Amino acid sequence: MAFDILQTDWTKARAKMAAWRAPIKARDIFTGTIVAESTTLNDLPVSKFVVRPRLEDGHLAPISKSFATDFEPCESEKSFYEHEWDLDEKVDQKSLCLPFNLTWLQAKPGRFDFHFELPAHVRCLGLGERFANLNIRGNTHTLFSTDNPNHNEHADMLYKSIPFLILNDGPLYSGIWLDSPAPQRWDLDTELSGTAKIELFSRLGFNLYVFAPTTLADLVCAFTALTGRSALPPLWSLGHQQCRWSYPDQATIRDLAHEFRSRKIPCDTLVLDIDYMDEYRVFTHSRERFPDFKKLAGELARDHFKLVTIVDPGVKKDEKFEVYRQGLSGDHFCKTARGEVFIETVWPGLSAFPDFLSEKTRQWWGDKLKFYVDNGIAGIWNDMNEPAMFNNQKPLPVPLVELPEAQSQLFMQQGENGAVGHFEVRNLYGFLMGQATHQALTRYRPKERPFVLTRSASTGIQRYAAVWLGDNSSWYEHLQKSLPMLLNMGLSGVPFAGVDIGGFGGDTTPELLVRWYEIGIFYPFFRNHCALMGRAQEPFSFSPKVEAMVRHLIETRYRLLPYIQDLFWMHRRTGAPLMRPLAWEFEDQVSRDCDDQFMFGDSIMVAPVVQPNQRSRRVYFPEGRWCTLESLLADHGAGVQIYEGGQTILVNCPLGSVPAFVREGSILPVADIMQSTAEYPSTDITFYAFGDRASSIHKDDDGISLDYQKQKYGEWMIYIHDGDFDARPIFNGLTRPKRRYFFMPSGSSKKLPCDLPQH
Ligand code: GLC
Repeated sequence: MAFDILQTDWTKARAKMAAWRAPIKARDIFTGTIVAESTTLNDLPVSKFVVRPRLEDGHLAPISKSFATDFEPCESEKSFYEHEWDLDEKVDQKSLCLPFNLTWLQAKPGRFDFHFELPAHVRCLGLGERFANLNIRGNTHTLFSTDNPNHNEHADMLYKSIPFLILNDGPLYSGIWLDSPAPQRWDLDTELSGTAKIELFSRLGFNLYVFAPTTLADLVCAFTALTGRSALPPLWSLGHQQCRWSYPDQATIRDLAHEFRSRKIPCDTLVLDIDYMDEYRVFTHSRERFPDFKKLAGELARDHFKLVTIVDPGVKKDEKFEVYRQGLSGDHFCKTARGEVFIETVWPGLSAFPDFLSEKTRQWWGDKLKFYVDNGIAGIWNDMNEPAMFNNQKPLPVPLVELPEAQSQLFMQQGENGAVGHFEVRNLYGFLMGQATHQALTRYRPKERPFVLTRSASTGIQRYAAVWLGDNSSWYEHLQKSLPMLLNMGLSGVPFAGVDIGGFGGDTTPELLVRWYEIGIFYPFFRNHCALMGRAQEPFSFSPKVEAMVRHLIETRYRLLPYIQDLFWMHRRTGAPLMRPLAWEFEDQVSRDCDDQFMFGDSIMVAPVVQPNQRSRRVYFPEGRWCTLESLLADHGAGVQIYEGGQTILVNCPLGSVPAFVREGSILPVADIMQSTAEYPSTDITFYAFGDRASSIHKDDDGISLDYQKQKYGEWMIYIHDGDFDARPIFNGLTRPKRRYFFMPSGSSKKLPCDLPQH
């Protein structure tokens, strides 16, 4: 019998029901110190509260090192991040008057409770990776990095933990950032009582930041001035990436490369999942299936492909395995409170986990990564770094009333201030692995921009890695969710993000794949990836018709690369993500509520189809005039197809078309079609204008080195005045690239040569 009513455990059932009752407001047991500081970040007032509880041994908890804010910007960009904190003295929390009446108390040695008001009209955005629409209000959001492949309405804990919440009241946006890597449960008015609460399960206190109300752009600018911005990615990493779990051997990879080139489907990167390794041992390659590992990378490089490999943290427990032995002798693995190396099961079987909280271990891991550099691997993909454990997917005790004592937190980690329980710092695991990887690649290839991709992450990860949102499925629902999810990632400071195109789990369909590429060409991170059992979903896996549609979409991505790079440059300067909610640019009510459309930079609006069998959709056009991106770039002289803004219009969306519109007053720098970014240095760039008056900033650099940080780049202000082209240098640190420039006036089919002056 599947379900025996007589077996019901009524004690458990009652406990569960009781857990849903609204908690009684607890008594404050806090006896530590609160230090208030304030600053302005790009003119925005920001308050910071450093809260240190007194521990049971009578000492104050050490100030936790915030890996999110501790970083050294490069010399030329220091001004973007400059600020000084004014110390406001020790404060009594009760005397504070904070936005939304935010208050907190320490309810237990291992729990802090926060409350704030959430009037009915206030929207909630951000909070990193949430399986939700753009407004994440009305739900509970637990931040405790977890390998959770079940992306559905009940998915609460996911891979990333970024506790930055944006509160939107009319035209104003305020921010709360609870800077702590400990587990947090944010309840955003699930009781519909107009209040929100946060439970922070920590024994060590926190840093709380409150950002004054301002525009969305200014708020994200200030937040990223504090937590850092993404470096410019290597150009090749913005091209098309093809992955699968797993291409089984090197012959398959060679075939794959051949297919892309012979079919003229642009692609820059092929990605090796776990099966390139010898029994999933990190820092090895299979001698049977990938015997010519280094040679393969070399051959692919000659054909202008980069090879990226997955690197998981779990080190196979095998006394004969050199890396395991080194980890033991160097004391690099996480240990239980009893001092034994903590062992759990992941892909290699029983495995030990490097303690990335320890600087010494990060250095060791970075040294080991030389293996990949020596073999010509171009970038590293960090996965399973929550860290995932097959027999303990959700390690947090349930129900969680307070954080258990350090000794009962699965294992211990070694921080700057000594041993700390794993749960207290778990949310940093992926971040620190990414940081170690980024720093190692920079060390080994000082002349190249590193490419690191990570699944788990916390605040500030954009400084070190791109992210993808884990194991989605080949479902339209996941296609739809990718929009609000990526928008919230961008608002949380992380611009270089994407999801698996085609869907990871399950079998994609030709139509779904095409629809996914229609949006995917606008994901900053642009990768097709599929799971072990899934049907093949490379662009050529279906009919020639499907292949032609996908080719056209990928070609459009490559044509937009100059624009995409300009957007990364803007992010660097202002923190603006590439994918932005309409409300970033427009103040009207419809724009504020919209999350099935988004702005890609300030010039392009994307309004995709996310349902099967749909060949048209209602598109909201904010104020101004708009034209379809495809008609603007068509060069056929048929004129651009224009829509007047301020209304919702039913628009045809044939399968395979680019679902994007250009805003009047824009100038898009557009490259020629290319097969890989190796052709970029010599491509023509054409400035496509929409409107007789337009302006934009365009930047150019070598796309690969870090020289832009030493001011080796060219930057121009481009204008269209009464239909005429004009370009003025803003900065001249680059010998002008050897390429031709053209200007395509609005509504014309004839490109005119133009110039980007040096002085
Ligand atoms: C995880 C990753 C997925 C990868 C698989 C095998 O599920 O999220 O992308 O393909 O592991 O390594």
